Amino acid sequence: MIVSKGRISMECFIYVILFISLLFSNQILALPDVEQQNNRLSPRDTPSLQFNGPFTTVIDLLSQDVEFSIFVRLLQRKKLIPYLNELQNFTLLAPVNSAFVQDFNPLSNDVKDVISTLDLSPWDEFDVQNYIIHDNVITTDQLTNSTKVISDNVKFPLVLSQPNINSHRFVINNDIPIVEPNLSPNMQNATVHGVLKLVTDAKDINSLINSVENIKVSYTNIDVLLQNLLNRYMDPPTNNKTLLVPSNKSFKTHFNSIELNYLLNHYNKLEKMNKHIQKGWYKDMEILLNNLLIDEVVGGSTDLLTFNQNNGLVHISSKNCGQQLILNERDSSILTFTNQPYDFGMAHFFDDIQFLNTSISFNAEKYLHGLNCSGFVREIYFRGLEKFIKDNDEFVTIFLPQASLNDEVGFTKSTLLYHFTELPIWLEKDFPTLSKNEIHNKFYNSSFCSSNKKLGGHCQRMKLTKSNKGYFINNKFHILNSKPYQIGNTLIYIIDNDITLPNDLIFSLPPTLDSCSKSISFLRKLNYLDLKPNHEGYTVFLPCFNSWDDMGLNFKYIQSNFTAASLIMENLIVNGLYYTDLGDHRYIETNNLLDEPITIDINKDDHSSKIEVNIDSLQDNLTIDKDSDIIFNQGVIHPTHNIEYPLDLQISLKDLFMTTGNDKFMYLLETLPNYKHLFNDSNMPYSILVPTLSSLDYSNISNDYTKLEEFLKLHIIPGNETVNILNCDNDFNTLLGEILECKSYSQDDQYIKVKEGATNEVRILNKGCSTENSQQACIFLIDKPLSLNWIGKDKYNLNMPILAVAFGIILGVVMFMIFVCCLLVARVTKIKNRYQMVDSSENSNENDNTVRHINDVKHPLLNNSQIRPPTSYDSTNTAAKLSASSNGSSSNSNNRPNTGSASYSVNSTATPIQMPRKK
Ligand SMILES: *[C@@H]1O[C@H](CO)[C@@H](O)[C@H](O)[C@H]1NC(C)=O
Ligand SMILES: *[C@@H]1O[C@H](CO)[C@@H](O)[C@H](O)[C@H]1NC(C)=O
Ligand SMILES: *[C@@H]1O[C@H](CO)[C@@H](O)[C@H](O)[C@H]1NC(C)=O
Ligand SMILES: *[C@@H]1O[C@H](CO)[C@@H](O)[C@H](O)[C@H]1NC(C)=O
Ligand SMILES: *[C@@H]1O[C@H](CO)[C@@H](O)[C@H](O)[C@H]1NC(C)=O
Ligand SMILES: *[C@@H]1O[C@H](CO)[C@@H](O)[C@H](O)[C@H]1NC(C)=O
Ligand SMILES: *[C@@H]1O[C@H](CO)[C@@H](O)[C@H](O)[C@H]1NC(C)=O
Repeated sequence: MIVSKGRISMECFIYVILFISLLFSNQILALPDVEQQNNRLSPRDTPSLQFNGPFTTVIDLLSQDVEFSIFVRLLQRKKLIPYLNELQNFTLLAPVNSAFVQDFNPLSNDVKDVISTLDLSPWDEFDVQNYIIHDNVITTDQLTNSTKVISDNVKFPLVLSQPNINSHRFVINNDIPIVEPNLSPNMQNATVHGVLKLVTDAKDINSLINSVENIKVSYTNIDVLLQNLLNRYMDPPTNNKTLLVPSNKSFKTHFNSIELNYLLNHYNKLEKMNKHIQKGWYKDMEILLNNLLIDEVVGGSTDLLTFNQNNGLVHISSKNCGQQLILNERDSSILTFTNQPYDFGMAHFFDDIQFLNTSISFNAEKYLHGLNCSGFVREIYFRGLEKFIKDNDEFVTIFLPQASLNDEVGFTKSTLLYHFTELPIWLEKDFPTLSKNEIHNKFYNSSFCSSNKKLGGHCQRMKLTKSNKGYFINNKFHILNSKPYQIGNTLIYIIDNDITLPNDLIFSLPPTLDSCSKSISFLRKLNYLDLKPNHEGYTVFLPCFNSWDDMGLNFKYIQSNFTAASLIMENLIVNGLYYTDLGDHRYIETNNLLDEPITIDINKDDHSSKIEVNIDSLQDNLTIDKDSDIIFNQGVIHPTHNIEYPLDLQISLKDLFMTTGNDKFMYLLETLPNYKHLFNDSNMPYSILVPTLSSLDYSNISNDYTKLEEFLKLHIIPGNETVNILNCDNDFNTLLGEILECKSYSQDDQYIKVKEGATNEVRILNKGCSTENSQQACIFLIDKPLSLNWIGKDKYNLNMPILAVAFGIILGVVMFMIFVCCLLVARVTKIKNRYQMVDSSENSNENDNTVRHINDVKHPLLNNSQIRPPTSYDSTNTAAKLSASSNGSSSNSNNRPNTGSASYSVNSTATPIQMPRKK
């Protein structure tokens, strides 16, 4: 390097000649074998210096020792002889021949071969600076019982140490033994140490850490940290410094996994972030690294009070003759991995470093990165909502969408805000422990509060539900951890998907509530699925569950009358927000959708899960469930268990009749003289059993049917009797005076038959009651008309033969005895009084009459109606008739075949049956 280029070939020639002559003047190059190498491991007690003359240089010393011959030849080849000759105040590490042999096998004993190998290119990389310590003349006596780290005037730091106190062996950089120490020329201020190995370039810091990796402690974390940071600098931050290397275990001790993921950029999202986010992130990485960096090369035997790069005071001392460092009297470095030089600096490896995490603080933002949700952070910055994730004095709960593969999903500002609430939500504390199928709901205000147009500035709420399936938000989004990640005042829950804002009314209803579909279809028809913004939000009482089904014919009517339907729905949608978790008592004055002023009165009962809602425009209370509010984008929905009619909605008996579609029956009813009273239920209500049109057609009853009036009256029920058929739990009278009975097998399976009549039953298909008189004026749709023929018919239907036979026998015996008695009496009285005999025959005629009644069921009715004086429908008559019917039913409460006297009491009752004569 000192020799100028022009003279290269000339000098080269001279040196080659010189070299060859040297070769022959010395002994043949002795190639050391294994034994020799082993011998050399022990330093020689007396350096074998042979002075050829009074003045020696370093080169002279090397040349005189055959062990350095290859080194000398190398120096010659590199034209370094003059350089070394002129050098002063230095220490030279001179590799012995075996050092080369180790590296370049095989070399043959043949001298010429050796020469030729010297030309091989690998030697060209040889840099003599690896072997020179400038401005420092070191002898091994300076190294006794200590370790010396040299970082000045060297190409890379060197460590000179005495591995074993009791031996006088010394090593360079922990693994290069000095085999011929302390050769001193007298012409130069220098020392030469023969070393057993070549001094290779120091590794860079990453390779050094990687090379340490295959022991039981792992150092990958610091490696990752450095890799993240190193390419940010022109000069690596580790340059000319001491790096204290903590193990992964140490990282684990001082940080949790989320923090580590963040600090080490575990998900490799750092690069994709904008400058602003990157800056903070890199800063934390730097703080972490700076905790571990000392701004000078420290090592070996030392006792030093210094500062790390974060100005943290660090006391570095040593033990084991400088082969182990101690930080702050606490953390000891690992013996075999202390004083590890790199290019350029010194590394010391530790199990743990106490101050690893000082000066590093975390906030929600960092945790979000650590949870692999950097995309979410980016969105937050993009929407200017950083305040939620920066260091926060207020409580914030974040519902964080699980890191998904697709990191590119964008949020609107509103939607993003809906992921936050400025409340601490502790799921495990806020919710009770539930038994198996219990469900518990709670509501929280989200941070989305700006929808002035829709919610009047109220914050949109979110519903949290706990059930045996876990925790859900708005019945849709599953919360994956019931215990939140907490960082400062921020609580983080992971959810399985991006939360969407509550949707339109229709999309907010959970699929489990398909019972609301009838209400929805009304709202759709009425165009109320999209309510116009009212600047205060809406509360919708939505009939669900069985509410519509329970309405029967009324539902059919409402379905057919658009005006009625809208009247109902408009009364159920009110301005303003009522949530069921607000206070125990609420009195709200507001307007409904018709813009009518209404008041809502709500009293909550702690013991009931239901809430009675009194709206003054409705006939009765609505029943809703506590905490079952359904949030939608314009307010809140309460599914109701019932429907109450608005006060100004009238559904008359005739309206309901029309839903049966049986015009023919109506036509027949019109033949009744007092037909008008039937549907004018204001003073005297009636209910009507209406057969289906097809069954009526089939029965061939038309207005020329001779007993039409009786037939119709059998289908008309006085108002106050209606409750019994409505509940289907009691017998009830008809206008005809014939008692009917209702049999209920289930709610949907109810039958009517003539009491004590034929076994024939008709089924109640549907029913509905007028709004004005919902307990007294009802229409019952039945599957076929009742027949007058069924009245009393069952008296002959002895469907139990044994009973019939028994009954027959008893009857026979009784008849026989009566006959015998009569005969005896007749015989006795015959002679006494003839006139008395006539009386007794009249008595027997009356008996005959009874039998006749049994034979012909139609007659008594006909007779009765003909006998009765004409009356009009009035209450006294009805009352009289009913008292009669109750008498009848008390004396005969079953369908068993009746005795003659029983049937007599029914058919020839003394009570008048009202039967106004046709006009
Ligand atoms: C060698 O060291 C001495 C004493 O420190 C100094 O005076 C001298 O200048 C040095 N020589 C060179 C060439 O640096
Ligand atoms: C030899 O070099 C060392 C290191 O530079 C220096 O301290 C010492 O004074 C020098 N000795 C002489 C005699 O120049
Ligand atoms: C080196 O240490 C050994 C063993 O502790 C001791 O005997 C010897 O005196 C020490 N040498 C020096 C120079 O301190
Ligand atoms: C290393 O640091 C020391 C002391 O801070 C300084 O004198 C020296 O020039 C530095 N060397 C390099 C290569 O930066
Ligand atoms: C429909 O209902 C409204 C409100 O009750 C009523 O005024 C109207 O007469 C009904 N229309 C029909 C065709 O029944
Ligand atoms: C109707 O609701 C109101 C308010 O909740 C309540 O005070 C009242 O008792 C309820 N009435 C009935 C009949 O349940
Ligand atoms: C209905 O009213 C009539 C007359 O007022 C009465 O005799 C009858 O017992 C009542 N029926 C019921 C079920 O209350």
